[in-house]
Amino acid sequence: MQTAYYLILVPMVYLAFAVFIVGTVARLVSIWQKPKNPSTLMIHHTKSPRWLWALADTFLLPTVRRHNPLLWLFLMIFHIALLLLIIGHLELFQRFAIFQVIDHEVFLGRGFVGLAMAIALLFFLFRRFVSPNRDLSVPEDYYLLILLLLTVIFGAEMDWARRWYDYGEMQVGDYRAYLMSLVMLKPKLPDALTGSGHSFMLVLHVFFANLFIMFFPFSKIMHSFFALPMNKLRRG
Ligand code: HEM
Repeated sequence: MQTAYYLILVPMVYLAFAVFIVGTVARLVSIWQKPKNPSTLMIHHTKSPRWLWALADTFLLPTVRRHNPLLWLFLMIFHIALLLLIIGHLELFQRFAIFQVIDHEVFLGRGFVGLAMAIALLFFLFRRFVSPNRDLSVPEDYYLLILLLLTVIFGAEMDWARRWYDYGEMQVGDYRAYLMSLVMLKPKLPDALTGSGHSFMLVLHVFFANLFIMFFPFSKIMHSFFALPMNKLRRG
């Protein structure tokens, strides 16, 4: 079992990030090399400042808000939670003074960020079981959502165990030692992370996260790289 833990927590993480970087660069280059679209994509005649409008379109999704307020609400919850989670994962590497502006324990949000994200993902998944969304969905839509949900549930579970149920065997200091050792290319797994009753939760979390990270460049989620430039083109 310890060998499986090691393979998932060390070589698979390196592999996942290598696939992510090479895959993302390859996709961006291939899109860059496509012939230019001869027609304009500008559909709004916005005065200035156009960048501000493009930013608002990208992050506030006004069209979705108009047509489907409930979906908009869950999209907002999801994306705000995502931002807080990115900060949380950065803090698992080391302490950053800038994030200490708000005094908090890692993760921000006392476990409720993971919970909010899990609920938003369940909403996105269940809405695809109902027509007309069901008829427009392809298998990839379900795989992605299920993969994300599994990643989030196992990650959040560790946070809940620590924050809500005083489970103290795996601590932020252990995660920091592990993740910084990966960055330094001198991988080391603290005993607390591989010998605790919750180790399998960490291994499952990182396993599904690795799959997600590898899948990312080839999936629809690449939209995140294009959302802002596309909105800028629409605004002229
Ligand atoms: C290889 C990459 C990743 C590693 C090593 C990793 C590691 C961790 C660790 C150690 C925790 C802390 C558990 C605790 O608080 O005790 C955590 C929490 C969490 N992770 Fe990850 N993670 C990774 C990628 C991801 C991805 C891609 C997602 C998906 C969005 C994700 C979602 C979460 C969530 C939702 C939590 C709980 C946060 C909360 O409840 O506030 N993780 N992760």
